[in-house]
Amino acid sequence: MYRMRRFSKEDLGQVMGIVGKTLGENYDPSVYLQLAKHWPEAFLVLERGKRIVGFALGAMNEDGSARLLMLSVHPSYRRKGVGTMLMKAFMREAIGRSAKRIILEVRITNKTAIQFYQHHGFDIRGLLQHYYTSGEDAYAMERPV
Ligand SMILES: CC(C)(COP(=O)(O)OP(=O)(O)OC[C@H]1O[C@@H](n2cnc3c(N)ncnc32)[C@H](O)[C@@H]1OP(=O)(O)O)[C@@H](O)C(=O)NCCC(=O)NCCS
Repeated sequence: MYRMRRFSKEDLGQVMGIVGKTLGENYDPSVYLQLAKHWPEAFLVLERGKRIVGFALGAMNEDGSARLLMLSVHPSYRRKGVGTMLMKAFMREAIGRSAKRIILEVRITNKTAIQFYQHHGFDIRGLLQHYYTSGEDAYAMERPV
């Protein structure tokens, strides 16, 4: 049984664990706490029992677009619709904020995520050169809400 709910401070360790394992990033905890304050409804965790199996995190831009900053699923729970549940919940929050579109950036080598986002109606809108600190390029992707 899965349960979707808002992020709370106690989730930080598990969320950071998923980020480290799946995105290879190690952001400072304050980054998550600041974003949770900015738009609490759009920092979503999906639990199975006591385990967080995935999360989504977004921000509202001043131009009225909702930006999906991170969406990640624990490797043991992939291809079971978990990412889709998180995406749909994020979209509901974007609708709630009257966002006109959802934007995101993704590594051009991350074929799985690109296919996942295309499955959810996102199109590639541009190439952002050297977007990541590693020097890797990103695709800018977008879909209407
Ligand atoms: C991308 C990611 C979130 C997908 O989560 P998921 O729970 O496995 O996705 P779902 O089961 O909801 O898949 C929905 C659809 O996306 C597409 N998709 C998902 N994984 C795919 C894969 N490995 N290969 C091809 N298509 C894939 C398929 O169309 C799939 O539908 P189907 O299973 O009916 O064919 C997950 O692979 C992940 O966490 N990756 C690492 C983190 C990451 O790169 N996040 C994005 C950048 S922040």
